[in-house]
Amino acid sequence: MGMLTGKTALVTGGSRGIGRAVALRLAAEGALVAVHYGGNGDAAKETVARIEEAGGRAFAVQARFGEDGAVDRLFEGLIAGLAGRGLDILVNNAGIFSGNSITQVTPEELDRLFSINVSTPFFVVQRALPLLNDGGRIINVGSTASRFAVSTQIGYVISKTALESMTPSLANELGSRGITVNTVAPGAVRTDMTAAFTSIPEVAAGLEAITALGRIGEPEDVADVVGFLAGPQGRWVTGQTIDVSGGIYLGPMAHA
Ligand SMILES: NC(=O)c1ccc[n+]([C@@H]2O[C@H](COP(=O)([O-])OP(=O)(O)OC[C@H]3O[C@@H](n4cnc5c(N)ncnc54)[C@H](OP(=O)(O)O)[C@@H]3O)[C@@H](O)[C@H]2O)c1
Repeated sequence: MGMLTGKTALVTGGSRGIGRAVALRLAAEGALVAVHYGGNGDAAKETVARIEEAGGRAFAVQARFGEDGAVDRLFEGLIAGLAGRGLDILVNNAGIFSGNSITQVTPEELDRLFSINVSTPFFVVQRALPLLNDGGRIINVGSTASRFAVSTQIGYVISKTALESMTPSLANELGSRGITVNTVAPGAVRTDMTAAFTSIPEVAAGLEAITALGRIGEPEDVADVVGFLAGPQGRWVTGQTIDVSGGIYLGPMAHA
């Protein structure tokens, strides 16, 4: 029996990348997983199919964040799929990236970054509160970009920093219900989001060179940490940001 047998989970952006790996991980531990997606129904179907082929249980839920009524649509699908059960694990993973500097970011772009990366997860938490079972888990997917200067991604950086900043306040408030709230902060991970630059050998080599463990992350590197926080072994960790980056930008490298 898996550590999460009998539990339920919602993974936003569970169709691809880190979210897919998280959905597979939680389902492998026995959770019934709601695989949320924005527009890529085929990718969501594939995630659900992979979970079912491995003997797990999952269903897909569509809602395009940034559009009016998206949170309502998400919860309609979620509540239908849970069929009367509460929610044990909420993973706020869906997000978008923008590689622009202060001189390039438009008001529309910043609004969209904040809508999808900050406001939507905020209101997803708000809507989830009555559904969340005591002893539950909220895990926000932040980024190491909140702890160092990345001027070429400044809009993205401030959105992920804002998301991360919800964690301690929520943890303090929800502790009385035994609900833990944490952020996992990945470094560079090989997904569709980063493919444009990780596919360039010089860029990949540069990222490896500033990473203590010497490689770019894989979605499963992050999913395992989310799995730990979601499970019983993570019960005494709350209000924290866990860096899951293989040690990116820790300081000068000994061999540099
Ligand atoms: N990859 C990295 O290096 C890295 C590093 C640090 C943090 N992160 C964070 O990790 C999270 C996942 O990133 P990823 O690399 O796995 O991204 P990805 O491969 O681009 O996947 C993004 C996921 O989010 C969903 N999504 C995107 N926009 C959406 C919208 N408007 N409405 C609803 N769903 C939407 C996508 O759904 P569809 O499939 O339907 O499009 C997809 O499931 C993000 O929050 C990202 O900021 C990533």
